[in-house]
Amino acid sequence: MSLYQSVGRVNFLTLLFPLKEIISRRSDASTAVCKDYSRAEDGQWYAIKGCNSGDGNLPYPFYVPHSEWFCQSLCECIGLACPPRRIIERQSKELVFGSRFEGGVDLSNTFGGVRLDWWHYVHNGKIPIDDFIYIFSKLYPFDLFVNNNDRHANNYLVRGQMDGVSFLVFDFSNSWMSNGFPPPSLPMASGSNTIRLKDQFKSCFRGFAVDVQIALDTITSLRQIPSTKIEAILDSHPQEWLSPGDKEIILEWWNSDRNSRLDTIEGGLASGDYL
Ligand SMILES: Nc1ncnc2c1ncn2[C@@H]1O[C@H](COP(=O)(O)OP(=O)(O)O)[C@@H](O)[C@H]1O
Ligand SMILES: [Mg+2]
Repeated sequence: MSLYQSVGRVNFLTLLFPLKEIISRRSDASTAVCKDYSRAEDGQWYAIKGCNSGDGNLPYPFYVPHSEWFCQSLCECIGLACPPRRIIERQSKELVFGSRFEGGVDLSNTFGGVRLDWWHYVHNGKIPIDDFIYIFSKLYPFDLFVNNNDRHANNYLVRGQMDGVSFLVFDFSNSWMSNGFPPPSLPMASGSNTIRLKDQFKSCFRGFAVDVQIALDTITSLRQIPSTKIEAILDSHPQEWLSPGDKEIILEWWNSDRNSRLDTIEGGLASGDYL
């Protein structure tokens, strides 16, 4: 039997060749989950998260690397851009999730002047509000779907690109399996960062509104992802990021309760209750 046959549908290139960590550094940010950075053999820096990184901060921290990998993979399926992700093998041999540093935190090089947080440039008109509304409208229903209750404004990266900026979305630590599975019923708590951010944008930016059609397109896209794709995503990360039986539970949920969750979000968007 060939190697390919013996590993079945596993994306063995991904698994056989994680990037090796060459050096690491503790994060200097007071951050909840991401405590370390790795410079890998490709010469790039990664923000890394392992199965212990969220200890003490999340209901199920063991699932952080899986949740990051899974949610970013879904984002890529539906056309939401994230930083490149890789599996990093630390010097300790632990396999962790790595998010490649892409900048996007300091826009003063792009716009000049003193460093401001990105939303100030939306406020002063240097970033067209429509650019942000497009990304937000696509991402907001996705965050509701994967139960990401921590979408605050610093969980976007905003970079100068061509003659404007582009947004990257990242940080799915407080989502999906690491927040408990199956995801709790909607609506999401009004005190969550995700709902508060939406409400803050409404009050801070005159004219801010979720574009309902774009939001509904996210729902349509999520309905179309087949369970074979989900299985391939689950097989493309280290199996030690899940417990025995999890893969079957996730696939079963995808084939059943996923649709009622999407129905609920669609209803909330259409009625205006979730806007
Ligand atoms: N791919 C990346 N590119 C640039 N900066 C990043 C990237 N990943 C993480 N960071 C920086 O590290 C911080 C912590 O990462 P994040 O994934 O948000 O972890 P946490 O769950 O601890 O909030 C971010 O707020 C950001 O400043
Ligand atoms: Mg964060």
